[in-house]
Amino acid sequence: MSDSNPVQNTNSPRINTATGVTLEFKDIVKQYPGQKAPAVKKLNLKINAGESVMFVGPSGCGKTTSLKMINRLIEPTSGQILIDGKNVVDSNVSELRRSIGYVIQGGSLLPHLTVAQNVAIVPKLLKWDKKRIAARCDELLEMVGLDPNLYRDRYPRELSGGQQQRVGVARGLAADPPVLLMDEPFGAVDPITRQRLQDELLSIQDELHKTIVCVTHDIDEAIKLGDRIVIFREQAEIAQFDTPEAILSNPADDYVADFVGSGSKLKQLSLLRVDDVGLSDAPTCRVGEAVSEVVAKVEAQGEDHVVILDDQNRPQEWLFLRTLKHHDKVPAATHELETVIDHRSTLNNALDTMLMSSHGGAMVTERGRYVGVIRYDDVTDYVRATREETRGVGEDA
Ligand SMILES: Nc1ncnc2c1ncn2[C@@H]1O[C@H](COP(=O)(O)OP(=O)(O)O)[C@@H](O)[C@H]1O
Ligand SMILES: [Mg+2]
Repeated sequence: MSDSNPVQNTNSPRINTATGVTLEFKDIVKQYPGQKAPAVKKLNLKINAGESVMFVGPSGCGKTTSLKMINRLIEPTSGQILIDGKNVVDSNVSELRRSIGYVIQGGSLLPHLTVAQNVAIVPKLLKWDKKRIAARCDELLEMVGLDPNLYRDRYPRELSGGQQQRVGVARGLAADPPVLLMDEPFGAVDPITRQRLQDELLSIQDELHKTIVCVTHDIDEAIKLGDRIVIFREQAEIAQFDTPEAILSNPADDYVADFVGSGSKLKQLSLLRVDDVGLSDAPTCRVGEAVSEVVAKVEAQGEDHVVILDDQNRPQEWLFLRTLKHHDKVPAATHELETVIDHRSTLNNALDTMLMSSHGGAMVTERGRYVGVIRYDDVTDYVRATREETRGVGEDA
């Protein structure tokens, strides 16, 4: 799709990067002192290099405990955790933690440090030189969708919850660790922000291929972000460990089926991405162009609307010509756009977004750069076609 599109994301950061490594739990038991039953009874789990695995399950089932044993914030009672084949207890704890990104809810930024200083914590410990740290910091802020010029010197209290969370993700990735652990990272933000953060994470993962273990209580988030999902019962017993597709279409038992929920047919929309449907073209123009010229050009194409882009191809607005005609020059964005989605967004998210649009569609970006639009009709046609295909083999989608 973007291959054939002239608007390329040439400004996106390309980072020389460590890709993921394997991660294995072997007979892991965690018995907290004074507790009757172990929090983790006997966990065996093998995660592939570069895979993102989501941990879901009811509150108290041992997700966080299992996660924290990876970077030794909690020590197991018995068993082994192997990262790239190496037992974590054989590593020096500080070195181990520097090689594992850790992102928790809210971002947990240090309030007296600026955004840049927060991101720089681990690189500083690693004694990177100042120039390298500054460059890395800007690169990461850009990557998580924050303009470094605007944000690097701000303090956490000057950021929204979603922005703090973005900085938290940037900090987790700062020293380019092969493993990234996340514990309910997007639990504290509103649904639209959560969707955007999830999209950013998908784009980042597309590029970086870290081994990611992410705890969530949200099955939809797990379906969206996971290459595979672990559904836990009490005491971190695995009820099912499989791809989202397999878990939705073939839950191992009633427990999993209940956990996934009754909307699972509809949830299959979360398995489809904007990329699957494909994009449409819309007329575009640039901030600062003469409106009379733009109108003439767009009307000649038989269209009554135009997508406005800035000089970095970031969408600013999607306007009807009749509205644009109130201006002499094409204006820049005056407010945050709601009808923009990432190309990796799920169709569920896309439909939500489109419902807010007066154009029956959404502008689609890749790393924040415009790549086309997706229209409501494209989605419904696609879903209908998919359903008919599925019916063809005797099953209702
Ligand atoms: N520091 C602790 N001391 C004693 N018990 C704990 C501690 N942390 C967690 N637990 C218990 O271990 C179990 C698993 O907790 P946790 O891993 O936090 O679950 P989850 O993240 O799935 O909600 C729970 O029963 C919890 O009460
Ligand atoms: Mg937890």
